[in-house]
Formats: sequence, structure tokens, C-alpha cells
Amino acid sequence: MPSLAEAYHEAFPIGVAMASPLKGGYSEEELTMLRHQFSIATPANCLKWKFLQTGLDDWKFEKADAFVKWVGEQKLKALGHCLIWNREKYDPVWLFEDKSEPASKKLVLKRLQRSIETIVGRYAGKLDSWEVVNEAIGDTKDGPKLRESRWTRFTGDAFIETAYRAVMQADPKARLAYNDYNTEYDWRRERIIELVKGLQDKNIPIEIIGIQGHYELDDIPFEKLEQSIVELHEATGARIAVTELDIDVVRRKDWWGASPAQRAEISKRNPYPDGCPHEILERQAEQYEALFRIFLKHPDKIDRVTFWGLSDKRSWLNTWPWERDNYPLLFDADLIPKPAFHRLLALAKSLP
Ligand code: GLA
Repeated sequence: MPSLAEAYHEAFPIGVAMASPLKGGYSEEELTMLRHQFSIATPANCLKWKFLQTGLDDWKFEKADAFVKWVGEQKLKALGHCLIWNREKYDPVWLFEDKSEPASKKLVLKRLQRSIETIVGRYAGKLDSWEVVNEAIGDTKDGPKLRESRWTRFTGDAFIETAYRAVMQADPKARLAYNDYNTEYDWRRERIIELVKGLQDKNIPIEIIGIQGHYELDDIPFEKLEQSIVELHEATGARIAVTELDIDVVRRKDWWGASPAQRAEISKRNPYPDGCPHEILERQAEQYEALFRIFLKHPDKIDRVTFWGLSDKRSWLNTWPWERDNYPLLFDADLIPKPAFHRLLALAKSLP
């Protein structure tokens, strides 16, 4: 089978998010495909801080070590993802307590720095970049600039600067990235630019801005995406990584504004339990191609394009935000390449 990473070699690296090989689960065939089809790996979960440290002295490095060792053996590039995921539910609650009292801002930042030095120092020299902060920006136009969390309540915005500086110290060669979603909304993009430029002005060289790219079939904001790539790059000089690409075919859009009763109804939706209709797969393939046509217009700005998983079998969209049979990626559950894979390959071949 031809390799997508090879086909796009001249344009940009093609990446994949994967679990730690230690978790078992991956067949030999999957491991072979991971190393053959892609040139850079994102640890889907195992390098997230929340899984590495569960208390002041509770560290769990086995899965992350196994991931870093495996990618090294395969001569795959890899990156770190992610240290601070600014969502209240992922806050390291223990970090904000000091003998049953709320910790001081100073202590919070000191602990943050130490933890990052431990994690990033452990893998220094082995990772291409770190997505240091993920999803910092708030979700409402009229709401606070940063999404509220313990981080913002205890430190204002100081946690962000502290986190990046700690990474710079622990692994000076790792490129610094900021990652977020809905960059297609003008107001969100503007806030990201403000955040990144503010850091750059303080000599924190953010080199990469990640656009997550969790899209839904027939609802991809192509024009706004291209505008994002251009504007984010032009305003900050950073290169753009498409970090978590997939196309949901059992769309989740209705879920967000729905009441609990409506959600109970929506969560019964499972239109394709016996396989995805060919016509849908064709549309998905067209839309993947349209995305790549945009990326290919901007190889000077695109740092990489990473799919959020190898095959449909492992996609998070089979269970989030409700359980359903989903088909968002390039390979089906049996690892057979889907129409989208063939389209992207053909597109690469047509390049000058
Ligand atoms: C976010 C995170 C990822 C991953 C996806 C869903 O986008 O950045 O690490 O958890 O959600 O799986």
C-alpha cells in the first residue's frame, strides 16, 4: 500500500494521534501502518500531564516512556501533547491545595514549573515540539478571554507564561506550540493572536499554532479555515499545524444547544450501525480532498497535518458525545483504506 506520508513528503509531514503501544490493543498490522503511513506521532493521551501526575508525588511514566521509546525505534518524529489543558474538569486539583487550604498563587506557579520541568526534562531532545497549552481561550464572545478554571482563578493568566518558560528551560530545542479549536470564528482567532503575540513580545517564541480540525460532514468552514491559516501565520509568524483532523459523519452539532431531554433523544441516533453508506464515504472523501487542496495552497505556512487516529475503530467519535458507529478517518475498522485515502493519494500524485 502506498504511504500517505511519502506522497506528501514534499509538502508537509502527515501525522497521526496514537495511544501508547504499552496499552496493548494495537495489532502488529496497526503498528506497521502507523509507521508506514505517517511521519510524526502525537500521543493521544499518554503524555497529557493529567495522566502523568495524579498527586504531588504520584507519577506514572510507564505508558509515556513506552510511547517515546517506540517512536524513537521507528524513527518517527513525535511531539508532546499537552501540558495544560485549560478545562476545569482536567485541572490537577491537588496542585491547588496546601494542607487543606487553597494554595497561594506563588505556590501554584512553583508547582507548575516543577512538574513541567520533570515531564519535559525527562523527554528532552526526543520530541520535536510541545503543545504546552491547549484550549485556553473562552467559549463565549462576551465572556472572559480565557476559559475559567482553577488556573485562571488562582493565577490570572500567569500560568500560561510560567508553563512556556518552564518548557523552554527544560528542553530548549523543543519548538513551542499553542493549540485550540474554532479558530474559524473571527473573535476566537483574534484572541488567539493576541495571546500568542503577547507571549512572543515577552520573548517566548511560539513557533506553531495548532488548529485542531475536528470537522463535521457537510459543515466544514473551508473559507474561514483558509482565512485562519493565513491570518494566524501573518499576524504571528508561527507555522500552522492541523493537529487533530477528522470528519464526523454522524454529526454532533445539535447536541450542544440541546436540553437534557433532547440529548436523551439525540443519543439514540445511530444511523449506520452496519457500515457507512458508500455515498457518505464519497462525500467525506470529497471534503477531505477540499481540505487538502487548501493546505496545499499554503505549504510555506503548514507545519504538519495530523489525523486524530489511525482507523475508524479507534476514533473518539464512536463514543463522544454519545455512543454511535462513526467513520471519521482514512482507514476503516478493518484497516482497509477508504475513498478519502485514495482521493488524498491521487491528489498528492497530481502535484507538480
Ligand atoms: C481535544 C484534545 C485532544 C483529544 C480530543 C478528543 O481536542 O486536545 O487531546 O482529547 O479533544 O479526543
